[in-house]
Amino acid sequence: MSIKVLSVFGTRPEAIKMAPVVRELQRRVPQFQSVVCVTGQHRDMLDQIMRSFDLKADFDLNVMQHAQSPAQVASRVLAELPQVLEQVSPDMMLVQGDTTTTCAAALTAFMHRVPVGHVEAGLRTGDLSQPFPEEMNRRVTTVVSTLHFAPTLDARIALAREGVGADHIIHAGNTVIDALLQSVRSDYAFEDGRLANLPRDGRILLVTTHRRESIGEPMRQICEGILRIKQAHPELTVVIPLHRNPAVRDIVLGKLAGQAGIVLVDPLPYLDFVHMMARSDVILTDSGGVQEEAPSLKRPVLVVREVTERPEGVAAGVAKLLGTNPQRIFDEVHRLLTDEAAYRAMVGVKNPYGDGHAARYIVDAIECWQQQRSRKRA
Ligand code: UD1
Ligand code: UDP
Repeated sequence: MSIKVLSVFGTRPEAIKMAPVVRELQRRVPQFQSVVCVTGQHRDMLDQIMRSFDLKADFDLNVMQHAQSPAQVASRVLAELPQVLEQVSPDMMLVQGDTTTTCAAALTAFMHRVPVGHVEAGLRTGDLSQPFPEEMNRRVTTVVSTLHFAPTLDARIALAREGVGADHIIHAGNTVIDALLQSVRSDYAFEDGRLANLPRDGRILLVTTHRRESIGEPMRQICEGILRIKQAHPELTVVIPLHRNPAVRDIVLGKLAGQAGIVLVDPLPYLDFVHMMARSDVILTDSGGVQEEAPSLKRPVLVVREVTERPEGVAAGVAKLLGTNPQRIFDEVHRLLTDEAAYRAMVGVKNPYGDGHAARYIVDAIECWQQQRSRKRA
């Protein structure tokens, strides 16, 4: 009998990181039966990624509302996912990461006695307020999960420290590296006309920012840092794909719209974004996924946050944690643009987040778990 796996996700990064797993499950039909339920926590950004990876949803909870709060998202997932669980009756439900979708879906499955597999388990900052509310989401998801797919050794250690049994932790690597390596190519032509027309030899600073704890003064400071960099480096092009969160757009557009050499674009299709990373000289970001992807593209990544749950990049020297002080942002970007040795020191290191085969290890582990379960039942 095939192993029925229900994958539930709702935001852009979850879709990107679950795409390789869903592909692997589909590749292993009839051993596996893959069912996909999207919550639609992100509507357009999710749909964009579904198109990028040619993913189709069997169920769509369509929960997104304009300027929603995490509590509103959670309540709608808790109310609507049970019908899907009852209809599908999966052997395991997979969630990814630390969003409201992740946590609410994991709680719902637990209450319905459906075993949960957590992809990208064990990331911790140790501070419940940063990132907010993700640190809570990931800890709660750990409590209710049966299988924990740790992307790194640090994550594995964090889970063990919290009492998760070694036989329930699988050190798989991060599936974002699978997605990236399956996507990059040397002959890529940008879909977005503004990116296709950027000067071929000019230098580029790529920026993304969206964290809830940065909304307000920290995000204004990030924008101020960018303005200072542009003043000192008028030749530099700054590319900023704007997140759809209206609170983010208000701040970034308010500070940076209409500035020469600052290209503000809508969220990019995945292929455009990863090839833009590859085309950039420096990446400034508060994104989790971007921190993981940049080392594979040999690009230095400056993290505009106070803490990171991804210390491996910092330890390997490919990422630097800056906070949001505008002068610090200016100093570090300026250094990378003017000091070749400093630049070289931050690139060329092996990616600490995975080898590109995480999805295969995850699906192997689910198969093994199901075999043990069937033996126990017999
Ligand atoms: C969410 C996750 C965060 C993740 C981020 C990835 C939570 C609590 N946060 O944050 O961990 O890093 O996604 O991007 O789950 N919106 C649209 N269209 C879209 C997407 C968003 O209009 O396609 C707008 C809506 O007004 C929505 C708002 O953005 O209400 C906020 O979206 P939400 O998913 O609640 O939070 P994010 O800040 O995106
Ligand atoms: N990304 C994308 N288009 C964009 C910006 C980012 O496809 O315009 C991808 C990026 O490659 C990464 C993921 O989105 O894989 C990161 O998502 P985000 O920063 O929204 O969330 P986080 O990773 O911080 O949770």
